[in-house]
Amino acid sequence: MSFDPAAFRAEFPIFRAPFDGPALHYLDSGASAQVPQRVIDAVARHDSTARANVKRGVHRLAEAATEAYETARHAVAHYINAPSPREVIFTSGTTGAINLVARAFGDGLAEGDEVLVSELEHHSNIVPWQLLQMRRGVRLGVIPVTPDGRLDLDGIEERIGPRTRLVAVAHCSNVTGAVTDLARIAAAARASGARVLVDGAQRAPHGPFDVAALDVDFYAFSGHKTFGPNGVGVLWGRAELLEAMPPFLGGGEMISHVGFAGSSWAPIPAKFEAGTPPIAQAVGLGVALDWLAEQDWGAILAHEMRLTGRILDGLAALPGCRLLGPSGLQQRLGVVSFALEGLHPHDVCQFVDATHGVALRGGHHCAQPLMERFGLIGTVRASLAPYNDDSDVDALLDGLGEAIGHLRG
Ligand code: ALA
Repeated sequence: MSFDPAAFRAEFPIFRAPFDGPALHYLDSGASAQVPQRVIDAVARHDSTARANVKRGVHRLAEAATEAYETARHAVAHYINAPSPREVIFTSGTTGAINLVARAFGDGLAEGDEVLVSELEHHSNIVPWQLLQMRRGVRLGVIPVTPDGRLDLDGIEERIGPRTRLVAVAHCSNVTGAVTDLARIAAAARASGARVLVDGAQRAPHGPFDVAALDVDFYAFSGHKTFGPNGVGVLWGRAELLEAMPPFLGGGEMISHVGFAGSSWAPIPAKFEAGTPPIAQAVGLGVALDWLAEQDWGAILAHEMRLTGRILDGLAALPGCRLLGPSGLQQRLGVVSFALEGLHPHDVCQFVDATHGVALRGGHHCAQPLMERFGLIGTVRASLAPYNDDSDVDALLDGLGEAIGHLRG
């Protein structure tokens, strides 16, 4: 197998869309990846030929919709190597998935139990646990980060104590790009009986992975960052845990029987999919993941890391540029954050967009505790996907050089 960045890029109609001004250099895939034509087509085809509600009807369309939806569940299970598609729950996104666990698993915790997060988490993996803290009186522990923006796992084996019930961490930081040593966390958690939830929003788009081998308990990711549609995401959980957890949302299709004397719940995954799910979106996500699973990820990651290396080298040469995250290519993905001395991240992003067509994200990246840790109000972030190429890096570095000249001026 091999990887042809131009052929991959050709799958994405956004790169042929007419824009006023400079050509698009999209370096904001960490916020939302672009969507390939085959996914756009799959969603449209579903809505034009098989649109009906799922699991509720016995007519042909309802059966076709249900089959397409369950096929998508199998595609997810295949991409993440889930032992069973029953363990795959469609949610609204990563945030929806984590909130589901915070309610259905978290509400089973007792006052004084601990949920351990890290200092680099996205707000989606902090605030649901703070809400749980308010409901149940659990303690929220925080794993600190190292000066280069990684989880500081020194002494993690002792840090995870007898009252630690859950360790909830990002697989890859949405700010620093650092990849977490999940094996070490999972081993430490396993040894003390704690469960592990992984926010995989930034890792899932970078190739298939194996939840069984990771030896974690819950894994959450989003469709829209994984070249799929908006409004759909995934929670994977171990069957025995999901089976033991009460439902999160109540409504249609998550029940076995409803009566005023009491109701009983459907088996997983339906127990956690109350109401009409995002059907066409799940179908689109299934198509995206099947397509990603066919790619040569060794070659793609080499491509992304070569571009990341060029960005890191270019930033190191910029006057007054402070990198937030690992300066090398080990144990990281193509997410690069930096601050330019004296310049507001929003001004930098607007300048390089207007002058060079470069789409970046600027601000706190929904990670305010991490910004506070480093004494910053925010950073500029470039995040890569396989469709990026050298022209995107050239435009970024040219744009930043000019921004420094003009805005610091
Ligand atoms: N969580 C997304 C990001 O980091 C929105 O940009």
